[in-house]
Amino acid sequence: MPRPPFKKRLMRDVFRCISLLNAPVYLWPYFSREAGAEYGVGFFRKAHLLWSMFRNRFRIVTASGFLDHVVMVTEILKIPRDVKGVVVECGSYQGGSMVNFSLVCAMVGRELHVFDSFAGLPEPSEAEKLHKVLSIRNISTFQKGDWCGTIEVVTENIRRYGSLSVCRFHQGYFDQTLPQFREPVVFVFCDVDLRTSLEPCVENLWPLLQDHRMLFTHEAHHMEIAGLFFEPEWWQSRNLEKTPPGLVGGGSGIGLYVSDKGRFQSALGFAVKNLQVTDLASSGPEAAPWPVVVRPILTREEHFDNSGTLDGPPSVTVSAASSNT
Ligand SMILES: C[S@@+](CC[C@H](N)C(=O)[O-])C[C@H]1O[C@@H](n2cnc3c(N)ncnc32)[C@H](O)[C@@H]1O
Repeated sequence: MPRPPFKKRLMRDVFRCISLLNAPVYLWPYFSREAGAEYGVGFFRKAHLLWSMFRNRFRIVTASGFLDHVVMVTEILKIPRDVKGVVVECGSYQGGSMVNFSLVCAMVGRELHVFDSFAGLPEPSEAEKLHKVLSIRNISTFQKGDWCGTIEVVTENIRRYGSLSVCRFHQGYFDQTLPQFREPVVFVFCDVDLRTSLEPCVENLWPLLQDHRMLFTHEAHHMEIAGLFFEPEWWQSRNLEKTPPGLVGGGSGIGLYVSDKGRFQSALGFAVKNLQVTDLASSGPEAAPWPVVVRPILTREEHFDNSGTLDGPPSVTVSAASSNT
């Protein structure tokens, strides 16, 4: 890929440094007890992993960022130990994100399955040659062969800086390799650029993904990609879900990096499999140190029937004690 001009790279790095100043916000969940305790991974091992991830950012050319990796590794550490399954990455390029997934997978005793052509992008359709990234007023363009990281380069990078023994490689275009895959999955990262590449990933991996587990995309800020997670026809026609799961961060990514447009944004977004309102309420007190308020959803008539106010009946506050019963 052509390198952006010096001034643009400088500005990007300045804003990246500013983003790093927010590190305490992202490191709070990373260093929380919930992340890793079930695997016996405590503060010092997590500190060491963080340092390795930081150094890997400069060792391997990567399309994703350090904070992206911290957020996703935190989620892998939080997966309950008794939930069976492997971690999957679709789209590895030179192994910049894969290397850090391999390190955390070695810690938690899970396999990392990596799917890639190892020859770059397939030929994009005319409609896909250009994606509008409205949140940062940008345009992403794609050509066949972009983002090529050969299997030799990736293997060598992981052997030097990661944990090769947990990695399983699936070489080929996704529509050929993914339909053969049958393992239960606990985490998915799709960094695949094109909607036509994302579709076989979601179609084949969503049914294998365990309930309440996350599928991340690294193109959440591309409307063409975010849209897929909100299209009932697409999900229904493939017998995946009656209601699409939506995408946290759809349209602008979750707020990780400061952009030169004066906003927090990123490329990262996620969908959660089969998460119900009741699950959110019951996990509230563990997930947050404040009480979670659950308001029943009312019809318009119920709102007004209830002593003429719009507030409805009293809300239910879920406390740690009540959720444990
Ligand atoms: C942006 S790069 C991945 C970047 C990487 N995750 C990182 O953080 O550095 C996109 C990758 O997706 C792969 N890819 C995209 N579409 C594909 C398809 N249909 N089949 C196989 N590989 C594909 C490309 O070969 C490339 O390695």
